[in-house]
Amino acid sequence: MPQATKNCADPQHTKPESHKRILLSVPHMGGSEQLYVRQAFESNWLSTVGPNLSAFEQEFQNYIGLPAVALGSGTAGIHLGLRLLGVGPGDTVFCSTLTFAASANPIRYLGAEPVFIDSNYETWNMDPNLLADALQRSAAGGKLPKAVVVVDLYGQCADFDLIREICGQYDIPVLEDAAEALGANYRGRPAGTLGDVGVFSFNGNKIITTTGGGMLVSSSVERINKARFWSQQARDPGLAYQHSEIGYNYRMSNVLAGIGRGQLAVLDMRVQQRRAIALRYQRAFGDLPGIKLMPQASYGLHTNWLSCFLLDESEFGISRDRLIAALDRANIECRPVWKPMHLQPLYRDCDCYGGSVAAELFAKGICLPSSSSLTADDQSRVIDEVRMLVGAPALIQFASVEYASCRDK
Ligand SMILES: Cc1ncc(COP(=O)(O)O)c(C=O)c1O
Repeated sequence: MPQATKNCADPQHTKPESHKRILLSVPHMGGSEQLYVRQAFESNWLSTVGPNLSAFEQEFQNYIGLPAVALGSGTAGIHLGLRLLGVGPGDTVFCSTLTFAASANPIRYLGAEPVFIDSNYETWNMDPNLLADALQRSAAGGKLPKAVVVVDLYGQCADFDLIREICGQYDIPVLEDAAEALGANYRGRPAGTLGDVGVFSFNGNKIITTTGGGMLVSSSVERINKARFWSQQARDPGLAYQHSEIGYNYRMSNVLAGIGRGQLAVLDMRVQQRRAIALRYQRAFGDLPGIKLMPQASYGLHTNWLSCFLLDESEFGISRDRLIAALDRANIECRPVWKPMHLQPLYRDCDCYGGSVAAELFAKGICLPSSSSLTADDQSRVIDEVRMLVGAPALIQFASVEYASCRDK
């Protein structure tokens, strides 16, 4: 993600120049990544085949429990996943509206049209009741969607049992966009394994990273093999460069797979660290009115990939946008919650079921710095800055103690 723009011109709140910028979510290496990268260099496996790739896929499969194919990005995974589900020109695909654009764009790559579904307040994810309503109306209108893209937002799974049951009534397959939710679970089942195909992202801002990359998983080995084939330009077997199907250059490189192997080894620790950060913010703001952590649904483990809060300006005393601007001046990067797809100029003409919940979460939601490498001092700086902006006393002591138990060894 690009950094937010700095604004040093505010006389009311001068940026302390000695303070380094605290970013929203940065890569956090585990230590063994360079070993695998070095092995790739030493063995000269510097392309899109090699031992790190096969090992990363196998280790990921061991972690998730499903066959996996490593790709150049999560977006590529969604594109291939939708194609596996048969999406093509003229189809419609239902998609969570509250998400990053990469959840929806591949629908258009395939010549299909997205139809957006609103969130509920309980999880911020796709509202199963609205989905049921949308499917019922589509069935009555004689045009069911070819697939449903369900996003696990900010590290928390959607309510998949309900969603699968509803989609099952119409035999509609589900793509689980778990780009933001690696390490989360739903009723004990890992995020990404809850749909017909699941997709993860290893973008630099994610809970683990390969600098850029993605993984597609499915219980069907045939599907995974097909996706791997498409990701390598769909070259037919044999000596000649013959192609019978359209393919893409979507394979991950063996070098980046080496980074992935090192990162996967520390994933569980990263989940603990991100959760600890979110819960620490929650405690530190516990006495402030009008600021609430994103709900933590009782059905699973939320990774809190990003620590997201909802602000009620009338109680909190300052608007979301003013808070972001003030923190930016204090050299702290924060972001609004995703702008919903149905409010995007790109998707202006698409149908949307509901939309007001996502619009409100977007209007009031803020993502605070959430890197697993965030130090106690830096998190205290964020906390105290927020508290100071609403006239509350600092809590530095409390925050340092709280963090000590969740640090790296
Ligand atoms: C919900 C969601 N879907 C898809 C993606 C796309 O992943 P990538 O950046 O790896 O293409 C991202 C993040 O970037 C995301 O947040």
